Parts: sequence; C-alpha cells; structure tokens
Amino acid sequence: MTKRHRIQFPPTDVRELCQDEVYFDVLSEESRQRIRLHDYDQIFAVPGLYEQVVYDRLKCQSPETVVEALRYSVSQSNQGLNELRVLDLGAGNGMAGEELKKQGVSRLIGVDIIPEAQAAAERDRPGVYDDYYVMDFCSLSDLERDQLKSWACDCLISVAALGFGDIPAPAFLEAFNTIGKDAWVAFNVKETFLDRSDDSGFSQLIRELIFSEYLDLYRLERYRHRFSIEGEPLYYFALAGKKTGDVPPSFTDSIDLSA
Ligand SMILES: C[S@@+](CC[C@H](N)C(=O)[O-])C[C@H]1O[C@@H](n2cnc3c(N)ncnc32)[C@H](O)[C@@H]1O
Repeated sequence: MTKRHRIQFPPTDVRELCQDEVYFDVLSEESRQRIRLHDYDQIFAVPGLYEQVVYDRLKCQSPETVVEALRYSVSQSNQGLNELRVLDLGAGNGMAGEELKKQGVSRLIGVDIIPEAQAAAERDRPGVYDDYYVMDFCSLSDLERDQLKSWACDCLISVAALGFGDIPAPAFLEAFNTIGKDAWVAFNVKETFLDRSDDSGFSQLIRELIFSEYLDLYRLERYRHRFSIEGEPLYYFALAGKKTGDVPPSFTDSIDLSA
C-alpha cells in the first residue's frame, strides 16, 4: 500500500497566490519540504503524493469528466472507444491514462515534457501505456514527429495540462496536427479561457479552434475541476469533438500567442 504523507497547506494569509504559484508542505519527523503544486518533477518523485494532494485533498475530477466527454462524443458515431489509438498529452503519472484504460482503448501513448512523469507512470501504473515518450512539443524533431505519427493516433486527450505555465498553445497545435485528420479530441481548460475578457494567447487559440472549421464540437461541459487550496471550487470546461483537418500555420496569424 502507498505510504500516506503528512501534508500542510499554507495559512490563509498567504493564500492569495496564482494557480501556478500555489504550494504545500510535506512534513516528516525531521523536515518540512515546500513544494509548488506545479513542481511536478518533485511531486511525481514521491509515490502517492500527487494522488493524495490533487485527488484526495483537492478532489480533482477531471480525468473521469474529460474521458466521459470523449466517451459521449464517440458514442454518437459508429466508432467505439475500444477502437481508438489515443495520444495522452501531458500524461503526468497516468491518472487520465488509467481512466481511459478502464474504458478499454486500443492503444494508449503517453507524452510529457519531464522524465519524472514517465518514471512515475511506469512505477505506479505499469502497463497503462503502450509507450510513453518524454518530448517537448514546442520543439519536436522530425524523428520524434515520425515516431509519434507511426502510432497512427486517432484521438488526442489532454487533461489538466493546458495553459497556466503548462502546455503552451503552439505545443497543443503541434499535438493536434500529429493525430489523424478526422481524429477525436478531448481536453479541459479553465473556464475563463472561453471568456472574451481573457485575451491571453492560449484563450484566443482555444476560442478560435472550437468554433473553427478544423473541429466539430460534440460536447462542452462546465464542471468543478477541483478545489483551490482555499477550498474554493475551480470551474473548468471539458470539451470533446472531432477534428476535421490539420490547422494550417496561418491559423495563428491573428492571435498573439505571446500574450
Ligand atoms: C497537472 S499535470 C496533469 C497530469 C495528468 N494529465 C492528470 O490528469 O493527472 C500536467 C502535466 O503536463 C505536463 N506538461 C507541462 N508542460 C508540458 C509540455 N510543454 N509538453 C508536455 N507536457 C507538459 C507536466 O509535466 C505535467 O505532467
């Protein structure tokens, strides 16, 4: 059984932090280790820590919500989830992958930018992924692109990994264009990403994409992603749909991706 950790969240007076600055302390008899919620390398190095903080304490329900959005969308076609060859972008230690595997997909390929994620997925969820690559989608080499394309993925999923200092817009577009022309796509984004008042490059890209000719939207669902460490609900949208073609480079001409 995985060891339980003694975790302490910061006191209320220092809780005005951005979502990617939030930290917690892991206590032991002799030490207190401070870890940011986005320091995935440190979190994944400790078995069970990510699950205990993000899933047990903060009640994240994104893997099952995004996978259900995908299942619902695919059920409207004559395909089955069990036929899909899925690319899991920002796979981390495999929480979303495990949820997908429960549904029985044909192939599941994980990708993440840090080796600690791959190591944790193989340590904690052996056999969930058919293969797992450590790659930076912002600068894929031709060899890496060919390696991924050889899996002929017809589904892209990305859970709790887009925006917020995680996967940037160009990396998401690269992944979108790595999968087949009429592949399924399912991901989640913070609710403000669909709000016109949010003019960050990522938000603009997501809004343009979901109403573009390159994606047929099948499901858009607002739900509670998890609680913040202050105990406030954080709402996200789960989106799922079918790709209708590769996004051309000119697609982002009118979007300031650095914003
Ligand atoms: C919050 S975790 C989500 C992990 C998993 N999808 C889940 O649902 O539990 C975000 C993951 O995105 C990964 N990530 C961040 N930037 C990335 C990038 N540019 N390319 C690939 N993965 C990235 C992080 O290393 C981390 O493993």
